[in-house]
Amino acid sequence: MELSMQQRIAPSDGGGPTEHLRNATYVIGGSRQYPDAAHTSGLMAAHGRSTTGRTIAWGNGPLESRPLVVDFLRCSYLGLDNHPVVVAGAIEAIEEQRSLHWSCARTQLNFDLLGELEETLSEMFCARVLAFSSVMLANLGAMPILASGQLTGGRKPVVVFDSFAHISLAYHKSVVADETRVETIVHNDIDAVERLCRENPVVAYVCDGVYSMGDYSPIKELRQLQERYGLFLYIDDAHGISIFGRQGEGFARSQFPQGLGERTVIAASLAKGFGASGGILMLGTVDHEALFRRYSIPYAFSGAPNLAAVGAALGSCKIHRSAELGQRQGRLAQRIDLFDRRIATAEQGNSLPIRTMAIGSEANAIAIARGLLDRGFYTSLTFLPAVGEGKARIRVCITAEHEVRDIERLCDCVLEQVAEATGKPYPLR
Ligand SMILES: Cc1ncc(COP(=O)(O)O)c(C=O)c1O
Repeated sequence: MELSMQQRIAPSDGGGPTEHLRNATYVIGGSRQYPDAAHTSGLMAAHGRSTTGRTIAWGNGPLESRPLVVDFLRCSYLGLDNHPVVVAGAIEAIEEQRSLHWSCARTQLNFDLLGELEETLSEMFCARVLAFSSVMLANLGAMPILASGQLTGGRKPVVVFDSFAHISLAYHKSVVADETRVETIVHNDIDAVERLCRENPVVAYVCDGVYSMGDYSPIKELRQLQERYGLFLYIDDAHGISIFGRQGEGFARSQFPQGLGERTVIAASLAKGFGASGGILMLGTVDHEALFRRYSIPYAFSGAPNLAAVGAALGSCKIHRSAELGQRQGRLAQRIDLFDRRIATAEQGNSLPIRTMAIGSEANAIAIARGLLDRGFYTSLTFLPAVGEGKARIRVCITAEHEVRDIERLCDCVLEQVAEATGKPYPLR
């Protein structure tokens, strides 16, 4: 199940209370039966081993006896996670330094290769880049700094969250509220952001660049608000990196033609399209960089990417700086188009690699995903709290490494399984 996402607890979606900034009781209490049923069906907590391309040897035990499954769950959009150059990068880094992790604060001491990685990424993305062991930690470090007003000239901003902002951002609302005012707006409601900009001297907007359910933020309109009102933007582009831009700078960064300046921070993943491990922040000024290197909480503890992750990321940088990146981006676009010609989704026609099929009933979604797995395709289920109750979806992540025939077969099986589970043709109405 796609759990890594938004906390949608507005009444229209699930009947939950709105006065809370967090409400784990409601989220767990309201949704528990769905992951339980998906676990019972063998769709969750799965194990497997990477083979070639997007195929995994499913389960545990002797390799020869395991079924092969084509994976549409992982977000390795360019298929780089098992690329020989990425894997070799990780191995070389460990062999060279004979150490995986230093147990010390980054404010004091860092692996030299981590410095090399940050410099390389800074050049590639034309920003000051800081690397972390995950996007979750990068966001954790950033939210209190944003709330403090230190990124906005010493004046605390009203921090406005998109209601679909990833849980690794929304989780920190109560921490942010301890320092300043927090607002949550309806997903992508640019008019609401503008209203808040008109009413308040300093506003920061927190959103995803590409949302994990396949839609995206209107970056152009947000930039216009930035120009008009000085809006500060914190954009988590975990899913958008690598799949756009000449050097893979990503969905969000490629829409800022010049430097990021002093009013934008972009977070991104090194573990999805990038194919390595970890997360980054792209910052626009050396002042912001200094602030994060001193006060980001993960800097004081084990938030640095380990050396295998650093080596893998340096390997991926080589691919990002070669003609292969564009070729892979092109292969990805062809595969998205192929999927779209066969299966209608709300995301159809956008250039992102995430597609969600609206199923409705959670039980039907589980039956369909199970049927797909039995035919050799692993997909992800989406339930409450990521979407409202009775609005279950099945998500597929298309990658450059999927074979054309795998996508064609997946599409045929989706149509077949939906008809079998629901007695109705896809798309369901
Ligand atoms: C927008 C967004 N931010 C952050 C994350 C978490 O990334 P990580 O697993 O590197 O912490 C995800 C995960 O899918 C995500 O979709």
